[in-house]
Amino acid sequence: MSAGGEMKMRTACVTGGNGYIASALIKTLLEKGYAVKTTVRNPDDMAKNSHLKDLHALGPLEVFRADLEEEGSFDGAVAGCDYAFLVAAPMNIKSENPEKEVIELAVRGTLNVMRSCVKAGTVRRVVLTSSVGSVLVRPDLQGDGQVLDEESWSDVGFLTATKTGFWAYSVSKVLLEKEASRFAEEHGIGLVTVCPVITAGAAPAVTARTSVPGCLSLLSGDEEAFWTLRSMEASGSVALVHVDDLCRAELFVAEQEAAAGRYICCAVNTTVREIARFLEHKYPQYSVKTSLLSGDLLEEPRVRLSSAKLVREGFEFKHKTLDGMYDDMIDYGKALGILPN
Ligand SMILES: NC(=O)c1ccc[n+]([C@@H]2O[C@H](COP(=O)([O-])OP(=O)(O)OC[C@H]3O[C@@H](n4cnc5c(N)ncnc54)[C@H](OP(=O)(O)O)[C@@H]3O)[C@@H](O)[C@H]2O)c1
Repeated sequence: MSAGGEMKMRTACVTGGNGYIASALIKTLLEKGYAVKTTVRNPDDMAKNSHLKDLHALGPLEVFRADLEEEGSFDGAVAGCDYAFLVAAPMNIKSENPEKEVIELAVRGTLNVMRSCVKAGTVRRVVLTSSVGSVLVRPDLQGDGQVLDEESWSDVGFLTATKTGFWAYSVSKVLLEKEASRFAEEHGIGLVTVCPVITAGAAPAVTARTSVPGCLSLLSGDEEAFWTLRSMEASGSVALVHVDDLCRAELFVAEQEAAAGRYICCAVNTTVREIARFLEHKYPQYSVKTSLLSGDLLEEPRVRLSSAKLVREGFEFKHKTLDGMYDDMIDYGKALGILPN
């Protein structure tokens, strides 16, 4: 409360505001009455940032320039914030130098933002967006029917020895979670980590480079994007969450005083074949690109990612079926030029 008795507006920082998930999170926060400060690498790049202009209509939104590479560059964006949502991350999984450009940068960048949070002195909680990539990649899982919860960690030794799939991305997420946790303890910062699975659905962002092209690849025929689904299935499950539920979950763990540790955010465990059957039935106007369905594919998930902790603590997913995941994503895919109109 202010001296005049009125409630002070809460302020949140979201890093990487031109990204797919961050754009949806900004919208969620503004709709919930937060003032939002966000960062982008190049505020003048209107091809990437035009949605931020539209989001201004929902509430107070300030845009700052910041880069994970530059220590101190997040100071202005984090200053005065109650919560800091760390969403920006290097996503260049095809980097020629993944050790430096993905792993090292992700860890260093996370700590850079956390240092800004210490300097700010106002941040009640940092919500770190990791990934189920830090949970799922484990060669020791034998047989079907495994259920993975927050106790599970991807095997960094295995990932760095085999260097297949999204190995550097998964390693970066394990290491940044551990470093962030160590840093938070050392500096008395409240930290909660969210590990989302493949994120689906429409967002305000005007480009979508990661999961949306992947989810739509069976309709678009984009082989490279299809790799997202196939490589996740290779670890045992194509696990999905709607971006609106993910954003609600991020805000839930920020606001719940008792929230602590990691939270897997997953609504559906499925397979490539199951998605293909669903799409064939629901969207007959687009033919499913069956040529992508060659080779070993699962009939049922071998492994299930569990969000039981999140649900036990009071969170409710709104989108719990493939219908829910794809409902608004077809039109979004058309708007982004991933699918024909
Ligand atoms: N989408 C999913 O299915 C999924 C699933 C699990 C976890 N996640 C996690 O969620 C977060 C957001 O993912 P997304 O799907 O929204 O990806 P995205 O749309 O590619 O967003 C990534 C954001 O990070 C920014 N970024 C990259 N390198 C940066 C740097 N050096 N300095 C400052 N900003 C930088 C990008 O800015 P530029 O545009 O300037 O490159 C962009 O705003 C990531 O941490 C990702 O690991 C995503």
